Amino acid sequence: MPAMNAESSWDFRDNQELTASHAYNKEGYIIEKADFQYLELIKHDIERAFYEFPSITRKDVQKLENAHYSISHDQSNNLRLHIMKKLYRNTSFHRNYYNTAKNIIHSLCGNELAMQKRPGLSINLPQNRNDVLPIHADTWNGVSPFELNIWIPLVNCTNSMCLYILKRDNYKRRLNDSKELLRLTSDELFNELRDDLTWIPIEYGEILAFDQSLPHGYSLNEERDTHWSINCRFKGLHTPYWDKKLGEYFMPITVKNCTRLGMNYSHPDNWI
Ligand SMILES: [Fe+2]
Repeated sequence: MPAMNAESSWDFRDNQELTASHAYNKEGYIIEKADFQYLELIKHDIERAFYEFPSITRKDVQKLENAHYSISHDQSNNLRLHIMKKLYRNTSFHRNYYNTAKNIIHSLCGNELAMQKRPGLSINLPQNRNDVLPIHADTWNGVSPFELNIWIPLVNCTNSMCLYILKRDNYKRRLNDSKELLRLTSDELFNELRDDLTWIPIEYGEILAFDQSLPHGYSLNEERDTHWSINCRFKGLHTPYWDKKLGEYFMPITVKNCTRLGMNYSHPDNWI
């Protein structure tokens, strides 16, 4: 008996996978529960690196969302780079990241995977214009459409602390209305699309899987707390690579045995 919503009689995905896929396709994103034990390990690593930044003490800043009490606007990018450098000294952070979101990655993307070598950290201090991420779709700049972006909040995000996205239906409609849209500067584009954008509320403990071929970004954080999140791309190992290459930007993380054997196979000489 085929699963409900299967796309053909050869579509053997189960109901859970199809339900997640349809929600992701309709909205452009899906929110799932994180595997909490791994999420806590990720957050712990980030906090530890944060407290090693000069001028920060655990006593003064007990929560990540209060970072703005000790970090000036022009320090936020240095802090971000400092933490990323500490996190990627070995692969334990990557392993925990993968395990935090393994179920939804397997549902939407597969289980033989490549993972971004240096996940991106976002720290958006309240009222800091330097932390705004202009509206863009990653595929406009040479990123493969086969990628899945797993975006993990480290604090509760509401209103302008959230990532915003232009949902798929709105994107199609706006592109249909005017092909000139993509000629605009990013500020003009943001203002033009503003009323159709969705700021995605999300809490610590949840993960967002989103389609980065849809326009998205961060507006100015106008809340009282500092935004912290981390994002990482996954893709099926054997899917096409565009500008971001395997072995440089992406690392293979779950190479299956038959692939390993196949890569090392040598045909016996003179037999056939
Ligand atoms: Fe992006």
